[in-house]
Amino acid sequence: MPDLLLTELRKIQKKDGYISEQAIKKLNKKTGIPLSNIYGTATFYAMLHTTPQGKYIIEICNSPSCFLNNSLNIIKYIENKLKIKSGQTSKDKKFSLHIGSCIGCCDKAPAMLLNKKQYTNLTKEKIDFILKKLK
Ligand code: FES
Repeated sequence: MPDLLLTELRKIQKKDGYISEQAIKKLNKKTGIPLSNIYGTATFYAMLHTTPQGKYIIEICNSPSCFLNNSLNIIKYIENKLKIKSGQTSKDKKFSLHIGSCIGCCDKAPAMLLNKKQYTNLTKEKIDFILKKLK
């Protein structure tokens, strides 16, 4: 059942960009899985979003290797630059920012995903360069 639920939630997110309350209710009717289980799963995983996301979704790793290589300062830098906190989307709907877990490139920490593409060895200068290309 958990596999089915996760698969269904990922499908919804892929189609709609996020998992709305309406989609959760629809999934409840379709599968009979309790609303609390669906909502609990949708909000548990960092890769799933229950609010509309920006055009660019930034997921910064804060697992041990990245943490030990300054990820918190990078997170703070991005928060200040985009004027949003982790878990939020910018007013212009351009950026969403999330703190996530290991993305498998610990030897090049700190690292992040930007719309699922990996960026590694992050510095403030590198963040400036990456974000400037997106504006
Ligand atoms: S700890 Fe950050 S990529 Fe593995």
